[in-house]
Amino acid sequence: MKAATTTPSWLHTSVGRKVIMAATGLFLITFLIVHLAGNLLLLRGDGGAAFNAYAEFMSTNPAIRILEIALFAGFILHIYQGLYFILRERKSRPQGYALNAANANSSIFSRTMRLSAVVVLVFLVVHLRHFFVEHRVLGSPLTMYESCKAAFENPYYSAFYVVSMVLLAFHLAHGFYSGLQTLGLIMNSRIERIVKWIGAGLAFAIPLGFAIIPMYFLLKTF
Ligand code: HEM
Repeated sequence: MKAATTTPSWLHTSVGRKVIMAATGLFLITFLIVHLAGNLLLLRGDGGAAFNAYAEFMSTNPAIRILEIALFAGFILHIYQGLYFILRERKSRPQGYALNAANANSSIFSRTMRLSAVVVLVFLVVHLRHFFVEHRVLGSPLTMYESCKAAFENPYYSAFYVVSMVLLAFHLAHGFYSGLQTLGLIMNSRIERIVKWIGAGLAFAIPLGFAIIPMYFLLKTF
């Protein structure tokens, strides 16, 4: 008798896995936009009042807590599927590339997708450890604003954020277009042009918005 499976079999095909990566990737981009909007409250110059109120709301509202579970599930699925494709490609090419794989038809953003993925993943681990774990798990005595201020006044920590945001820009520059393409939403050349413009705008504006925050705190120390 055939063993019962818990997930539909198409999800384990390459197409299914790519659809999961695309859907979770686009979901994560919407998270980044909301996260950035909240974090920009750090720049209000009110000593952190608005940001602390926002952080308090985000950590106590029951609907947000449920969304947070979906968010972590989205990250885990996205990373898991990405690792699957990287490892599968490695297996099928054990000797590695004899020549640089760059070709005239692929952009620098698509060619560096794995590098940008790894840097963003390392960033995420450090980031979650510093803010999420420190506050939600270890119960830091600092307010969220004080935590951000103390972190970003350290030039090494701020530099790490800014460099990570450059790599996030690379990741988004290819990821947004690629996700919509995988989902079959780029149906003609007009839509393709629009998607490329929106993708470029997001890849520029989101990381820039995040990078401004550590630079703001660092510059204030001079
Ligand atoms: C200057 C940039 C950023 C600042 C100041 C910042 C700030 C924060 C803070 C204070 C928290 C803790 C929230 C809480 O526990 O209530 C947090 C959580 C989180 N951050 Fe960021 N963040 C930044 C950039 C990013 C980026 C670029 C990503 C993704 C690539 C990211 C992903 C997350 C995730 C997944 C969480 C945990 C979920 C949550 O609590 O909302 N953050 N961030």
